[in-house]
Amino acid sequence: MSHLLHIDSSVGAESVSRQLSAYFAEEWRNNHPGGGYVYRDVSAQPIPHITHPVHQALVYPDSDHGQSAQEQELTAAITNELLEASVLVLGVPMHNLSVPSTLKSWLDRVVHPAHMVRPGKTGPLSGKKVVAILSRGGSYAPGTPREGHDFQQSYLKAIMEAIGLGEDLTFVTAEFTMASAAPQMAHLKPLAEASLANAYDTLGKLAQ
Ligand SMILES: Cc1cc2nc3c(=O)[nH]c(=O)nc-3n(C[C@H](O)[C@H](O)[C@H](O)COP(=O)(O)O)c2cc1C
Repeated sequence: MSHLLHIDSSVGAESVSRQLSAYFAEEWRNNHPGGGYVYRDVSAQPIPHITHPVHQALVYPDSDHGQSAQEQELTAAITNELLEASVLVLGVPMHNLSVPSTLKSWLDRVVHPAHMVRPGKTGPLSGKKVVAILSRGGSYAPGTPREGHDFQQSYLKAIMEAIGLGEDLTFVTAEFTMASAAPQMAHLKPLAEASLANAYDTLGKLAQ
């Protein structure tokens, strides 16, 4: 049975990435009646940073490292949610050129030796479809002043590939999201609207 894991990480009340990820999830669930669905909001319910015992337990799972039962249960829940998913949708705002630290805390629990794959090989997480929805206030497209400063997509691509989630990985980007709020970006509103419309269109197709 197909199973969707939906993760949001925006801090925003009127979040673009949340709107888009919710649209994808709704379309996917309509198209896959009976499919499983799990939602995790790493902003509303932050995952604690890993500690030495938590890290040791991830790297050497067969020994007791003195991590609390609560930490153990949290890592197990996060891991099982990912293992069970056939489709993963991530809502990812750009924060300071990269991903939110709350999402990084989630990654720190699932990126460890048991999940790592060597280039060209498969691992326990391989075979999943991943849709990463990126929102950013500006643009980092070729020819823009900040071209080359996008460490959000490049980081996610590299880390997803490291754990076998890079084979069927699609990035859907909504850019210039601050155009409606920032007066100095008002002239960019048409580009923001076109980017958002394109994101919805792409997500509708990906949710088939
Ligand atoms: C802490 C923080 C850092 C941000 N850093 C950047 C940035 O480096 N580049 C950028 O284009 N936008 C940046 N933004 C703007 C957000 O990427 C933008 O508002 C985006 O729409 C957030 O996603 P959301 O609408 O899903 O919350 C930042 C916003 C916050 C809250």
